[in-house]
Amino acid sequence: MVSAQTDAAGARAIARCDALGVAPYSDSETGLYRAWLSPAHAAAQEQLADWMRHAGMDTRVDAASNLIGRYEGTSTGLPALLIGSHLDSVRDAGRYDGPLGIMLGIECVAALHAAGRRLPFAIEVIAFGDEEGSRFPASMFTSRAVAGTLIEDALEGVADANGISVAEALQDWGLAASTIHQAARAPEEVIAYLEAHIEQGPVLEAEGLALGVVTGIAAQLRFEVSVRGRAGHAGTSPMPLRFDALTAAAECVLAVEAVAREAGSDLVATVGRMQVEPGATNVVPGRVTFSLDVRAGENATRDVGAAEILRRFDAVAAARGVRVEATKVQDLAASPCDTHLIELLAQAVEAQDIAPRRLVSGAGHDAMVMRALCPTAMLFIRCDGGISHNPAERASAADAGVAVAAMLDFIERLGVARGN
Ligand code: GLV
Ligand code: MN
Ligand code: MN
Repeated sequence: MVSAQTDAAGARAIARCDALGVAPYSDSETGLYRAWLSPAHAAAQEQLADWMRHAGMDTRVDAASNLIGRYEGTSTGLPALLIGSHLDSVRDAGRYDGPLGIMLGIECVAALHAAGRRLPFAIEVIAFGDEEGSRFPASMFTSRAVAGTLIEDALEGVADANGISVAEALQDWGLAASTIHQAARAPEEVIAYLEAHIEQGPVLEAEGLALGVVTGIAAQLRFEVSVRGRAGHAGTSPMPLRFDALTAAAECVLAVEAVAREAGSDLVATVGRMQVEPGATNVVPGRVTFSLDVRAGENATRDVGAAEILRRFDAVAAARGVRVEATKVQDLAASPCDTHLIELLAQAVEAQDIAPRRLVSGAGHDAMVMRALCPTAMLFIRCDGGISHNPAERASAADAGVAVAAMLDFIERLGVARGN
């Protein structure tokens, strides 16, 4: 493909992400928030399916709510290269975290289709539903279903902030928790998984590189933490006699930060959500719940950090006479990308006259789950200032165009590597 065409493809991919950044593709009128199984998710899927069909794909929605577009290879029914990313977003999100990877996959197929090019494998573009976990406390149910690692029990008791369970949300979509496992793909149907994603960090920009090759994805743990104190009157409860759940939670949050700072490693730990009950000006808080996210490149670093955080929570509980309970809701091991695919992707990046910078992803991606099904590869695209999970997130049309060129080159190299 000549560069004028990939430039146009990149511009279209960015424009489509922008188009999906507002209502009805957002559940919020004031910014972008697209939650799994929400009306905005449905609207975005419908639009995407239309774009997929125009690019030459047949579309379907699987038992886990994922939208899949399929472009056949040299004959019908060949195993597929999966190219995917996610359609859901965080609250007050940027427009490219997730959707850009899907749009770039569509652009690759559109280019192949326009050229009448068929590969010795099919290509399927997958728009996953819940990589972020912004509606329910855990995430990646939809890619876990495809990878065949989602057991129905994992959905039990998981509910959003309005008390709607995953099972009920699926039912509202005409799907069922009891059949979600039917989304699982057989390993023999799939040859590899490729995900393109904005870097969400500053390295590529700092080094003047449009693209990067991911070597692996950091390990993650998520907990839901509950602090139980005793609600009381704000005017009549003397300070020494209080069991304030919020001040205890505040100490816990500072302990989270301290453990990660003191570790002197790549350990990062975050409390991003907190709920205070009963939540009134004149009531000493009786209960606080908050999220805890702990990550590191190595499983062991993450686990040692998480254990120390939980030990400090116990110390806060003992000192303040409150109960602190942490429930693990997600455990995703560090996920190395496939060494052979890393090499092919590096060659494809180099073919665009870009030094193939290799880097680890601190952000989570569906690729880390898909590794249970097939070899994985990830391409990073430079983003402005490394800003992400923020409406100021930006990626350029030119970089998106170079990404399409590199992905098409990777696809051809994969064909050659498979002996065709
Ligand atoms: C998703 O962006 C995550 O890393 O949690
Ligand atoms: Mn994200
Ligand atoms: Mn993402």
